[in-house]
Amino acid sequence: MSEQQENRDYDHKQSVRDCASIANHQTEENLKLQEGNESFPVWLLIVCVVILIVGGSYVGANSGGFEFSNNNKSGYEPSVPAGLSGLAPELSELEKYVKGGEAVYRAVCNGCHQATGAGQGQIPPLVESEWIINGTERFSQIVLNGIRGPITVKGASYGAQEMPAQKGVLNDKQIAQVMTYVRSKFGNVSDSVVTKEMVESARQKFGARPNQYTSRELSPEDAMLPGDQPEWLAPEEPEPSPEPAPEGESAQINSGSRTHASLNSKTT
Ligand code: HEC
Repeated sequence: MSEQQENRDYDHKQSVRDCASIANHQTEENLKLQEGNESFPVWLLIVCVVILIVGGSYVGANSGGFEFSNNNKSGYEPSVPAGLSGLAPELSELEKYVKGGEAVYRAVCNGCHQATGAGQGQIPPLVESEWIINGTERFSQIVLNGIRGPITVKGASYGAQEMPAQKGVLNDKQIAQVMTYVRSKFGNVSDSVVTKEMVESARQKFGARPNQYTSRELSPEDAMLPGDQPEWLAPEEPEPSPEPAPEGESAQINSGSRTHASLNSKTT
């Protein structure tokens, strides 16, 4: 055999081996493919369908369907976390009264004294003003008849502008409420209110005056409008149940002896 022929033989053998390995590989791959592609067993399909039918008809027969009344437990109240009731908090009588005054303030005083009560330019501030915190009589005079001329508010002088009378614009209740609001909001006065009756008497006393007051003509600083505070302002606290300490102790001793007695009566 020449060297050339031997090489050819070798090449041939090699190519045969390659072919064989490729073929083998392919059959292995075919097997694997078949494993994943097996058809779904018919018996399992039947079992599934039977379970669905039996289970579905059981649920259908035993649940209330989609009827609200069948699924609603009577008397069930969903619990709501505290503070999330969804209802507006109940306002106290005082808060309602002050709120009414706020509405009057917004409608009448806001434009000049500002929503913040800070005033502007020659319009003096109401915030912490001595004219609203001190005597309610002179405050009512200012609102009823207006004021003009020099006035000192918190150490600053004003006087270039006039405040018009409000007695024709506002009724007694509105004046009482707006005065209460101003005193509460800008003066931090929370222990007293101005009532409609107080303003009524003020109107009788000062309302006939034809023109505005000047600050010197106003009632003295400490003059308060006469009248009672409304009952709702200080709702009576329920009487705390009396707790007499020494008597409580003796009562305990007594109850102790009572149990002793009852024990004794049981044993005898
Ligand atoms: C048209 C503008 C105007 C309106 C509206 C008005 N005021 Fe005045 N107010 C003034 C001016 C101006 C003065 C200062 C007058 C002066 O310089 O003498 C004043 C002064 C006062 C004062 C005394 C000074 C002070 O700042 O404490 C009070 C209290 C007051 N006003 C309350 C009220 C209230 C309450 C209302 C609403 C019911 C009201 N005013 C509506 C312009 C107004």
